[in-house]
Amino acid sequence: MNKIAKHLGFTDYLEVGVQGGVTFNAVDISHRDAVDPNFLFETSEFERETVRFFQMPSDEFFSRHCDKTYDLIFLDGLHTFTQCFRDFCAALQVLREGGVIVIDDTVPGDLFSSLATQDLAIAAREAHGLTGRAWTGDVFKVIPTIHNYFPNLSYVTLRNPDNPMYKPNTVLWRGQRADFHPADMDLKDIESLGYFDLPLIENLFNYMDYEDGLSLLFDSVTKP
Ligand SMILES: C[S@@+](CC[C@H](N)C(=O)[O-])C[C@H]1O[C@@H](n2cnc3c(N)ncnc32)[C@H](O)[C@@H]1O
Repeated sequence: MNKIAKHLGFTDYLEVGVQGGVTFNAVDISHRDAVDPNFLFETSEFERETVRFFQMPSDEFFSRHCDKTYDLIFLDGLHTFTQCFRDFCAALQVLREGGVIVIDDTVPGDLFSSLATQDLAIAAREAHGLTGRAWTGDVFKVIPTIHNYFPNLSYVTLRNPDNPMYKPNTVLWRGQRADFHPADMDLKDIESLGYFDLPLIENLFNYMDYEDGLSLLFDSVTKP
């Protein structure tokens, strides 16, 4: 986030789904807005005129409280396809020209992560003698949806082969996809995708190694 912001001279950041503020409080951007129904830290310690906290679900924020536009929007709220796609559509409406959206957790690390709720993911791991709270839900379905229905958006899914702890995320910007070829799937087909279908749609994610993906982004997006 900081590399993107620094390179593109961004000044206004929105994070949806903030939890303990690990990312939000480390983002080096002058104006920052945070949205979460359940912050896990004392937000008043960080609040100032240019750093605002909206304790509410993202739907409420976008429909009633969002009063500005942003250069960089990080979507990391409720990890379901329906909510993440709604957050994405709302985010597009308040994304400035030359702005960037980052969607976290677009690739489940294992079958358990892709289950419908985090409780299920934890319980299913325990049932198999495993531990871990990782949960990406079915956010991955947002990628084929954007691929098929947003020809005017470009994106890459970043991964870092040198760091196995790096979770892939998808970076999007406004830009025609000259090679737009929707996959042969409608919304119902996308909705019914499961973890084991991921290899079949792997090419839709536009995977790139982290540094190469950022270079493509910087070559494609003009500074505001
Ligand atoms: C994975 S955590 C966010 C982690 C954080 N972005 C970070 O990098 O440290 C997901 C967060 O989404 C929040 N959340 C759940 N439903 C939400 C909603 N409808 N709108 C906004 N945030 C939501 C949860 O409360 C949780 O804190």
